[in-house]
Parts: sequence; structure tokens; C-alpha cells
Amino acid sequence: MDQQTLRYEQLAEELAGLIATRVLRVGERLPSVRRLAQEKRLSISTVVHALRLLEERGCVEARPQSGYFVRPGCGVPLQAPRATPPARAVKVDVSSRMMEVLALNHQADLIPFGAALPSAEVLPIASLQRLYSQVGRRADRLLATASHTSINHPELVRQFVRRSLAWGQPLAADELIVTNSCTESLSLCLRAVTRMGDTVAVESPAYPLMLQLLENLGLKALEIPTHPQHGMSVDALDIATRERRVAACLLVSNFSNPLGCVVPDHEKQRLAQMMAERNIPVIEDDIFGDLNFGAHRPWPIKSFDTAGNVMLCASVSKTISPTLRLGYVAAGRYHAQVLAQKTLTAGATNPITQAVVAAFMESGAYERHLRGLRRAYEKQVLAMAEAVMRHFPPGTCLSQPQGGFVLWVELPEPANANQLYEAALAEGIAFFPGELFSASGRYRNCLRLSSGCPWSPVQEDAVRRLGTLATRLVEAA
Ligand SMILES: Cc1ncc(COP(=O)(O)O)c(C=O)c1O
Repeated sequence: MDQQTLRYEQLAEELAGLIATRVLRVGERLPSVRRLAQEKRLSISTVVHALRLLEERGCVEARPQSGYFVRPGCGVPLQAPRATPPARAVKVDVSSRMMEVLALNHQADLIPFGAALPSAEVLPIASLQRLYSQVGRRADRLLATASHTSINHPELVRQFVRRSLAWGQPLAADELIVTNSCTESLSLCLRAVTRMGDTVAVESPAYPLMLQLLENLGLKALEIPTHPQHGMSVDALDIATRERRVAACLLVSNFSNPLGCVVPDHEKQRLAQMMAERNIPVIEDDIFGDLNFGAHRPWPIKSFDTAGNVMLCASVSKTISPTLRLGYVAAGRYHAQVLAQKTLTAGATNPITQAVVAAFMESGAYERHLRGLRRAYEKQVLAMAEAVMRHFPPGTCLSQPQGGFVLWVELPEPANANQLYEAALAEGIAFFPGELFSASGRYRNCLRLSSGCPWSPVQEDAVRRLGTLATRLVEAA
């Protein structure tokens, strides 16, 4: 690391510390670039670099002609992990615990910080009702002619392709397979390219359902260190796949679940190229891709892939409604294998729902809905982050999601989030304990909070009670 790099990172850390300890408060203006440069005896460009780093982390925002201001939700950030991959892949055994947690999660009247589900208030329910009735009235052809092997509604495929036209490399209509959900897409891809006993590289922490899929297929997990801002470490993936046989790489490159981080473009490009050279298929989950807080929707790794080696999976579960069970996979050169899996298992996806989503997208309503939804999720996540900072014990760190609607909270060690989970359930509050996000028993001091509902005094009170329980736990540890 050169001197210049060290200086701008040092200044960024110093300012982040002042924000975390509330010396600089939400909404306050930071000292001007000129003043910082004079006081710290740094060049203007070093100061600007430091401020841009803080902006990227979501700690500050630049306002034209006014300077930099502290954004809400900037707590004590999570520490970056060392970029060394683990020595070995591990057998996965999270499913029974996950099923227990999911079952409890469905209890009525729980404060829903558990499953990452959007609440009805943020979904376009009335538009969907209208469209189902319109499509239903003229659906006799759809109902009579669709067969379980005619998988795709062409208009829906056209809409998915159109939405990708802004990417460096758009999706191709003939690689797309419409599925019953992102979960189905991921499962089809894994079954298409792996065999029992194979190793799959995953993020750490990883989305629990991905770990469950590995367990179900008898696959081992190789947990690749994941940076809280920049996602899966491509350096670690490089080391891990140089000599070891890895059957696939499975990740959420945009707004990962649970960290909300984004792999930078140059690393996406490097990952795509490296995996293609090593003949390791990439299964990319882009379910949160449309839910950016910043100005631009990030491109997926798929848009940097020139070898057809990336299978892109997504669904409308986080944007339109999880009830629709509608997703897709753009399977590149694995299209034939994935299509065979789809035909052999569920067969075609409901053609009426495909037509409804196609009409919703075609009319422009989806794009309008997304504009409001992104703001709503951002507000909800920031309100939750601020509440955690107000009520959780000193030493708690939290993620700074750049999109999506989940928050990752790290309690000071040795606090055990499983104990917190039991105590919280007794108080009617659900969340996901951190151990579900690892195949090797990590993250016992962590929890994931989902923020799919508009913020309200009830939720503020629930975070306060959760914070009180966490404080007791930390003090007793
Ligand atoms: C990263 C990720 N992928 C997939 C899913 C599941 O999506 P679907 O409802 O389309 O199966 C979720 C839901 O939480 C998710 O967070």
C-alpha cells in the first residue's frame, strides 16, 4: 500500500469514526474539502478520495454546491475479513435448523424481522388484481394450449431481455428459461452442473437457502471470505480454485443477502473471466439487482461474461410479489442441461402469471413501481439501522447495505445470537440467527434483520426491546 493510499484510507476511517461515535451527526455537514486539506495537511485530491470512499460506503452524501453530509444509518461498520480461503470444503448441515426457524417465523403476530419478505403495503396488489382479471378474461387460448413442455411466454421473455439492454452485454432470448422462482432457478442450475460430493464456492456469510440446496444435493460448501462492502473476495476465490476442483461458484453479486454489498465492476469482470478460464460455471443470483439505493442499477457478473459461463437467476419475489412464484434463469451455454432439469421436474411455469407479469412490465408500471419501492426499502433499512444504533449495546457493528432490505448485525463477542433468538421469540420478535448463514458454524454472534415493512412505532419498539435483550446478554457474557 503506498503512502497516498494509506492517507486517504486513514482520513476516511477517522471521519467514519467521528460519525459512528456521533461526534458528527446525521444530516450535519462535514468540514469542507479545503478545510480538511488545510487542517490535515493533505492534498485536495487525497481528501476528495477519502470522501468518495465514505460516499461509496453509504456514510455520507454529496449535495451539489453544498458539500458532504452525514447520511442516516452509518453505524460502526463491519470489519473486512482476511482474504484467505478456508483450507477445506465442508459438509452442509443447516437445513433442519432452518426449517425450524422458518416454521416459527410463520406464526401470526410476530414482529416480522425474520424472512426477507416484502410486506403487502409496498407491493402493487391492486394492479395485479386488475391484471389477473384482464388476463383471465382473454386467457382461453393460454389455458387450452399451454403444455408442461412449452416453458416460456414469449412476451415475458421479451420484457426480461428489454430490461437487460442497458447492461454491457444484454441477455439473449434463447438462453432464458422462465421458472417458478429464484429458488427453482438456483436448484435447476446446481442440478445441471454438479454431482453428489462436489464442492461449490459460496459467499460467507451465505444466503441460508443456498446452503440448504447444497445440503439437499449432497454438495460441500467452500466458504469464500466476503467483504462487507465489496462482496465475495475474488482474490480468495482465485486461491481457492487454483488447485482444488470446484464444481461451481454460487453468489449474489448485487446487494447480497445478508450483507447488502456489491461486487465492484472490475472484480465482476475478473471473476467472470477467471471462472471461464478454469471452466467453473458461475451461478449468479440477482434477485435484489433492481433494488439499488444509489442512482444506478448495478450490472450483474453475467453482463461481463463472454463465454456463456454464467447462469443468471432472478425472480419478482422481492419486487412484485413473492406469492407469484415467478422467476427466470439465463443459462448461457448450460441452457440445454437446465431446460432438461426444468422439464423433468416442475415443467412449465403458470402461463397466466407469466402473462400478468409481462403486461405489468410492458405498460411501464413495473418501472414506476420500482422507483417508489427503492425509496421505500431504503427508508425502511435506514430507519432500522438507526434504531439498532440507538438501542443495541456498545460494540455492535452493522452492515451498510447498498440496496435490498436486510441488515446484518454483529454483537460483541462472545454474545450468542441463538440465546437472543430464543428470548426474542418469547417477546414475539422474529429474526434469523447468524449460524444459519454458515456451513461451518460461524456467525454465532450475528443476526439478520429483515426490513420488508414500512417503519412504524411498533417496529421501533421491537428493536428497542431486542436491544435491551442483547445488552443483557452482552453484559452477562
Ligand atoms: C438471495 C435470495 N435468493 C433467492 C431468494 C428466494 O427467492 P424466490 O422467492 O424467488 O424463490 C431469496 C429470498 O429471500 C433471496 O434472498
